[in-house]
Amino acid sequence: MMTVHILESTSENIAQATSYLKDGRLVAIPTETVYGLAANALSDDAVSQIYALKQRPQFNPLIIHCVDLTQAQMYGVFSDQALACAKAFWPGPLTLVLPFKKDSSISELARAGLETIALRISAHPIARALLEHSGLPLAAPSANPSERISPTSAIAVAEGFENQIMDAPLYILDGGACTVGLESTILDLTTDQPIILRPGCIAPEDLATILGQIPPINTGHDPKAPKSPGMLKRHYAPQHPLRINVEFPMAGQGFLNFGPTPTDHAPTLNLSLKGDLKEAAANLFAYLKSLDKENIQSIAVAPIPETGIGLAINDRLKRATTSPQALGDQS
Ligand code: TXA
Ligand code: MG
Repeated sequence: MMTVHILESTSENIAQATSYLKDGRLVAIPTETVYGLAANALSDDAVSQIYALKQRPQFNPLIIHCVDLTQAQMYGVFSDQALACAKAFWPGPLTLVLPFKKDSSISELARAGLETIALRISAHPIARALLEHSGLPLAAPSANPSERISPTSAIAVAEGFENQIMDAPLYILDGGACTVGLESTILDLTTDQPIILRPGCIAPEDLATILGQIPPINTGHDPKAPKSPGMLKRHYAPQHPLRINVEFPMAGQGFLNFGPTPTDHAPTLNLSLKGDLKEAAANLFAYLKSLDKENIQSIAVAPIPETGIGLAINDRLKRATTSPQALGDQS
């Protein structure tokens, strides 16, 4: 069993966490999207612990978190378009995939050896404090075991890793519940046409205000060479099988409802009684986890409108429905 410490986000604890990061250790940190498992992005050794703890395949690169645009420009090559996106949406829930700046010192392991790099500037004050105090770029994927649901609270991080065997303890800085609740939108600007690799809270229409056109979404899986290597088909999976677009749940199912339509089914949780997609996104992972703990056969989810952040919610739900058997050799 792994020792997990949840730390209140006092200035002493933030200073302590900063020194852990500088020493090459892992710290789980809150961001506005989901909790991240952070390590010094300049150190292969520190980064390798992320892959080990998450049991993440090493071909799957990590997002590099920076404190500001000046730091991000040390690691990525920014076109005018990239600069415009950065100015419009950073700090915030957007990740930009850009050409990698060749002479920069980001761990090759963190980039999975690619010529491109995924960069993000979070708006979360605790993430920002760690980036500022350490002066380091931080590699930070979502703080969950590979393929599982991303954590939106410190407790969820702890639960995900508690059965793991690791020598070093894991420190988690508690920043409360994440306000967005879904991982950042990933926009690839390394191709002729901008492409959304992962839908998120920043919707295609929002990006269109800067890009001049609505970027297509291509989470596209050629499983042999996924464009966003982490967009494996199975992801975000609860332990129970998941059914989507269910209006009338059956006995033995846990129901994840959305909107004001009443139901007397039990157990039921409602992502948003008033049918608000932002609220639903913020609740999604926590509610899936909570239903997953019930004595049920499967989880049934009500239809979610395919607009705005609903695109991102449905993307995560579809991945969570993929059974391990359908996956062949990808893990
Ligand atoms: O909201 C988020 O983005 C959270 C917080 C912690 O920042 N992080 C997160 O990281 O979701 P992760 O590792 O769970 O997902 C990052 C995704 C993966 O699908 C990965 O394959 C993709 O970003 N990615 C990373 N570098 C890439 C690159 N150079 N090109 C294409 N995709 C890349
Ligand atoms: Mg993840």
